[in-house]
Amino acid sequence: MISRETIDEVKNRIDIIDVISDFVTLKKSGQNYKALSPFVNEKTPSFFVVPAKGIFKDFSSGKGGDAFTFVMEHEKLSYAETIRYLAKKYGVEIKEDRLTDEGQAIQSEREGLYILMNFAKDYYKNILANHEDGKSIGLSYFRERSFTDKTIEKFELGFALDGWENFSKEAIAKGYNKELLEKTGLVVKREDGSSYDRFRGRVIFPVHNISGKVLAFGARMLGKDKNQPKYINSPETDIYHKSDVLYGLYQGKNAIRQLDVCYLVEGYTDVISMHQSDVENVVASSGTALTENQIKLIHRFTENVTVLFDGDSAGIKAALRGIDMILKGGLNVRVVLFPDGEDPDSYSRKVGTTAFKTFLKEHSQDFVSFKAGLFAQEAAGDPIKKAESIKEIVTSIALIPDAVKRSVYIQETSDQLKIAEAVLLTELNKILLQERRKNEKEKLREQPDQPNQGNESLTIVDPIEDLNQSEVDMPTMVYYQERETIRLLLNYSEQKFDDQKLADYLLHELDDVEFKNEVFKGIFETFKSGLTKGEPIDNQYFLQNGTEAVKRMVTELITSRYDASHHWNEKNIFFPKEQDNLNQLATTNVLRLKFRVVQKMMEDNLQSVKELETKGEWEDLDKALEKQTGLKRAETELAELLGIVVAK
Ligand code: CTP
Ligand code: MN
Repeated sequence: MISRETIDEVKNRIDIIDVISDFVTLKKSGQNYKALSPFVNEKTPSFFVVPAKGIFKDFSSGKGGDAFTFVMEHEKLSYAETIRYLAKKYGVEIKEDRLTDEGQAIQSEREGLYILMNFAKDYYKNILANHEDGKSIGLSYFRERSFTDKTIEKFELGFALDGWENFSKEAIAKGYNKELLEKTGLVVKREDGSSYDRFRGRVIFPVHNISGKVLAFGARMLGKDKNQPKYINSPETDIYHKSDVLYGLYQGKNAIRQLDVCYLVEGYTDVISMHQSDVENVVASSGTALTENQIKLIHRFTENVTVLFDGDSAGIKAALRGIDMILKGGLNVRVVLFPDGEDPDSYSRKVGTTAFKTFLKEHSQDFVSFKAGLFAQEAAGDPIKKAESIKEIVTSIALIPDAVKRSVYIQETSDQLKIAEAVLLTELNKILLQERRKNEKEKLREQPDQPNQGNESLTIVDPIEDLNQSEVDMPTMVYYQERETIRLLLNYSEQKFDDQKLADYLLHELDDVEFKNEVFKGIFETFKSGLTKGEPIDNQYFLQNGTEAVKRMVTELITSRYDASHHWNEKNIFFPKEQDNLNQLATTNVLRLKFRVVQKMMEDNLQSVKELETKGEWEDLDKALEKQTGLKRAETELAELLGIVVAK
């Protein structure tokens, strides 16, 4: 509802260099400016600003646009919020187009809540810093927990005096009305109409929204008292919806974006202690499982979440379901388990900054393999438990929306637990199928106006139901391995492999493999003919001469920093260099592709075996059976090389 005039006025005043400089240190370079990308972590600058055109371009992340786009992207603000931000920066008065009366009332009511919350925050801060009790009780409590002044300021911590009306009196004296005080939840109304301060004799942790406005407070009691709750929190209000907010996101968002991973902890003090240990990419769920909206909120800044677990193993299993939600949200999940009895807060203070950071790095492991390990231990030697744990793990994998990622996880789990992939795939497809039927039924129920409604005899046709179930994800597996081969070729064709080039090795090894996917096949054949003609091909060749589909695929494969192989094959998710173990990567890839292809051939051949049998063509049947035996032998050999156990 901001008026056109205001928007134009802001546009006239802004200077892109000035705007961006608030967030990024720019260096002049000729007519233009450059800097390290604020969107990804990098060592050489790829972020450019062209003041003459009023635009920026970030070659690492691909983002670009004008000053508005920059603020929206960098601060994750909406368009309206961006205008407000820039208007404030340049002292432009914001004129609003007339809202409806009702709209206006709601707007100013919410505005009133924000203003009062901000007043309260300043009030509690001031008590902590200047009041006798604030200093002797509140501040000394924070000191005991070794919070520094810097931390106290960064999180705007405060103190609420003991007494029923300290805050109310102050607020009313400043002109805030009683009704508003109740609406923010800062005071509580008694039945007789009188009211009292909600927070008394406690230290105060303000909860901020993404742009730094205070929405709520958490108030911790001092010391231990079994008869009181440890925390008293603000209730839900018109501006505070607990399930849409994450503690620490405001203070941590830049670090989360830059390091491209978000740590998830339980409590206020875990977030704060981690900041003091120089780990700022952290948020707290406030003691409950994450909600869908909170997951979406994290997703705006990164695709990677690492959950930090307290070291009491009783809680772990209960927490696993909550983590499943994160997988379902499409994020990559890792976990860190702390030693028994320690949480991030206690442990970071115990071991100190450096050791703490090392610990996080060294103990982070992929969630699926963590879970697999957990259940494998339990199920050892108990076949029934083993079947249950397979189901348990595959249930998690089935939640992952991306089919390629799913197949990688199946592969990894198969390796880890020494269970044939086919077994896991069958289970996976069963779950996917069930899930799909359930969704379709729900969809029908949600759309009661559909003509089908009420027609009980109508069954839902599932396109994959007719397929042999174990076949469902098999094409994906072949696809993934083909894609991986082509990716290696495109990115590392010139790299040394033993005494030859990687391209030579791959082309030679896979000479007799026929690619199933047309795009991959085309690229592979082009590499091959280039080699025969003595004209080595590189990825530029495809970008200039390829079809649209080829160009798209090549672009994707040469730019994807987060290709699956990084995440799943490396212990350490922080920027592994895949060049370093290229030889191993290439060798396993060749074996895996062959393994997949052989399995696919076996499936196809088995089909002909059945047909020949029905038709009674005994001679051909004999040949087909012989072929099957040969393939089985090849499969077993390849499996042994890969360290996988194949079902008999
Ligand atoms: N919590 C709550 N009410 C309680 C206990 C906990 O709202 N009675 C929420 C708070 O958001 C808290 C989180 O659950 O931050 C985790 O609880 P806990 O680990 O007990 O609190 P910490 O903040 O870590 O506090 P401390 O280290 O002082 O125990
Ligand atoms: Mn704690």
